[in-house]
Amino acid sequence: MATTHDTAQPAAQEDRIIIFDTTLRDGEQSPGCSMNVEEKLRVAAVLEGMGVDVIEAGFPIASEGDFHAVNEIAKRVKESVVCGLARAAAADIDRAGEALQPAARKRIHTFIGTSPLHRKYQLQLDAEQVHERVIDSVTRARRYTDDVEWSGMDASRTEPEFLFRCIESAIKAGATTINIPDTVGYAYPEEFADLIREIRNQVPNIDKAIISVHCHNDLGLAVANSLRAVEAGARQIECTINGIGERAGNCSLEEVVMAMRVRADRLPYRTRIVTQDIMKASRLVSAITGFQVQPNKAIVGANAFAHESGIHQDGVLKNAQTYEIMRPEDVGLVRSSLVMGKHSGRHAFKKKLEDLGYALGENALNDAFVRFKALADKKKEVFDEDIVALVDDEIQEA
Ligand code: KIV
Ligand code: ZN
Repeated sequence: MATTHDTAQPAAQEDRIIIFDTTLRDGEQSPGCSMNVEEKLRVAAVLEGMGVDVIEAGFPIASEGDFHAVNEIAKRVKESVVCGLARAAAADIDRAGEALQPAARKRIHTFIGTSPLHRKYQLQLDAEQVHERVIDSVTRARRYTDDVEWSGMDASRTEPEFLFRCIESAIKAGATTINIPDTVGYAYPEEFADLIREIRNQVPNIDKAIISVHCHNDLGLAVANSLRAVEAGARQIECTINGIGERAGNCSLEEVVMAMRVRADRLPYRTRIVTQDIMKASRLVSAITGFQVQPNKAIVGANAFAHESGIHQDGVLKNAQTYEIMRPEDVGLVRSSLVMGKHSGRHAFKKKLEDLGYALGENALNDAFVRFKALADKKKEVFDEDIVALVDDEIQEA
């Protein structure tokens, strides 16, 4: 097992994983995490810039605000595919089609619960009725775009034979991505990988579609399940910045992407993600949603690259690889040597912000600088964390 700082992406001929970010849809479904249109636009711009392939921008039928957000994102984002969610109902699909109309590249993501529990209690439909809706919904979504994703909600608790039949029919109706959600985070990595392998073996026309996975983190297994699914043949991972999402959240983008990058020896896959933008995205989402990142969170937590014990500090000073498996710079964390205090000028402050991953407009920069000076008058040294807090406040108030 090589432990090296050389975390370069694997070569181009190796397998490519599509990164589908659902921070603005599933992430926003975390209690207390809702974002307004302007906030969603800012997050979408960062996601596009960092190389996310598909941005799930929202659930257009859910509210006027969500429709508007998806519509505005569809107008502005050019590089990433913009996706809107729709239940297996004509009104949902039409609304998503309408919201996505201006997009350069658009996808409709339609879903229905397939498991016995969802059929019986949530939908009150029998298996045949659910199967019919799969065909009808995908067929309708194809009126708006030829990029249609179909999800069998609670797939990991669905009878495999029924799931395979729904997948086959979704592909026949025109779905080009088949998403397998572990909706309640119940799956275990090996078992989830077996399900993906079985889908590839049992569904006759599966080669016509990309297999995607959407793992929730109720047992803390979302990243592990996604990675095992990729090894079994999935080629799209659905994830969120900071792992936010329903209940315990979704697979975390930064963790799954960095796992593939750092362990390219074991996971020879490539993504388009500019990993140096990870901290910027994490801080923005945290500032906008008000959801603090836990200090010991992998990759983006405040302690992820901090070394407290003497032995560790000594080791890192001699050679960082003793206790660091990736370079902080590779996730956008610049160890800035600028010491900030009351004598620091606006120029140094701006440079410090850039080192920390922030690019503020002139007005926001001026406001932040005034607040920095006020703080510097009270403190001997203003630490990076103080500046991050100060700027996050600035962003929230903007
Ligand atoms: O968790 C889930 O099943 C979902 C679907 C809408 C894909 O979020
Ligand atoms: Zn979900």
